[in-house]
Amino acid sequence: MKTDYPLLLQQLTALVKGEQDFLANAANLSSFLYHNLAAVNWLGFYFQQGEDLVLGPFHGQPACTRLPIGQGVCGTAFADQKTLTVADVSKFTGHIYCDSASQSEVVVPFKHHKIAGVLDVDSPELNRFNAADAAFFERVVDIYIDSMATD
Ligand code: SME
Repeated sequence: MKTDYPLLLQQLTALVKGEQDFLANAANLSSFLYHNLAAVNWLGFYFQQGEDLVLGPFHGQPACTRLPIGQGVCGTAFADQKTLTVADVSKFTGHIYCDSASQSEVVVPFKHHKIAGVLDVDSPELNRFNAADAAFFERVVDIYIDSMATD
């Protein structure tokens, strides 16, 4: 079944409407996406603290609490400030295994005033995420960033 991305984006916009707190909105976005996407075993946020990305709200198995910036998929995407899609994580040098079920992954970095981090989405299937999926997660991050206060 094809995922209705325009509908999900509308629902996500409504979900964060009226709330500016970065943790509350990250928590609800993680829950909503995890329960509405097929073949996703982990989905959540890491936030920058100094040289690390520190675990934030997520759904899935317990995960690594700190990821060094510049290492692994999340740390590389954050250092480059570019969405990174990995079709087979076992072939990504330096990939950090938190859940051994994860086989492919997409990571979208963001920076907004004092809040910076990544949205990380993992799948138990190889090659789960194409360019349209990555573009969807970039829109999700846009909605998340727009929801936050600017002061
Ligand atoms: N695989 C990630 C680590 C985070 S977890 O998968 C939740 C990475 O290499 O950055």
